[in-house]
Amino acid sequence: MQESLQIKAMFDNIASKYDFLNHLLSLGQDFYWRSVMARELYPLRENSLVCDLATGTGDSAKVIAKRGFKVIGVDLSTKMLDISRKKLSNLPFIPSVGSAYELPFKDESFDAITCSFGIRNMHSYDIALKEIRRILKKGGKAIFLEFTIPQNFIKPAYEFYMKYILPNIAGLFSKKDAYEYLYDSIKNFPDPDRFANMLIDAGFVGVKQIPLSFGTVFVHKAFRF
Ligand SMILES: C[S@@+](CC[C@H](N)C(=O)[O-])C[C@H]1O[C@@H](n2cnc3c(N)ncnc32)[C@H](O)[C@@H]1O
Repeated sequence: MQESLQIKAMFDNIASKYDFLNHLLSLGQDFYWRSVMARELYPLRENSLVCDLATGTGDSAKVIAKRGFKVIGVDLSTKMLDISRKKLSNLPFIPSVGSAYELPFKDESFDAITCSFGIRNMHSYDIALKEIRRILKKGGKAIFLEFTIPQNFIKPAYEFYMKYILPNIAGLFSKKDAYEYLYDSIKNFPDPDRFANMLIDAGFVGVKQIPLSFGTVFVHKAFRF
């Protein structure tokens, strides 16, 4: 609970510069990552109901809603949600304040759930995954987009960038400590194999993982059994 309040406060604090810094610090790659995640929703029918968990300022929800799906975006941070509400005002999108640990929806409500760069911030992964499974229809899919420490030639340069460059650039425009937390949270997040096992333990099947941008980001997809 205390932890969720701290996360909410941190994202409320950085909300106004969040999108600008996302595009700048990812060198525009975030548009590509989100489009790959949205592509993995198919062959979902048009008008299907998608919950975009930890929707933040709604950049992923926007890509999904533009493809004709109805999206409910859930987040702890009211300031992040305020931005999503304005940005997606002409799209089939409903922002909703809520916690991943106690989602305000009935069992089996959604055809799919997406969660971009959100699960890493949820320290009780098992509770969040159980809730995600609960609100998914049987056969529905959960898709996560998440950072990973790359395990290849790029690792030293990546670590240098994340530790020394990214927080200092972010600090010029926003709260530097939030961007120091970013790297710590990526280091603490399970590697893809472990996350796949967590999905299986939580009752998902058919796990598929797609590495993007030299393995710095992964799409993790699984189905509710
Ligand atoms: C890094 S941002 C990602 C936002 C957006 N999905 C994106 O791709 O840009 C993480 C978001 O997760 C939200 N969040 C963190 N823990 C949460 C929880 N337990 N329940 C709901 N939202 C949560 C934060 O408020 C924040 O908006």
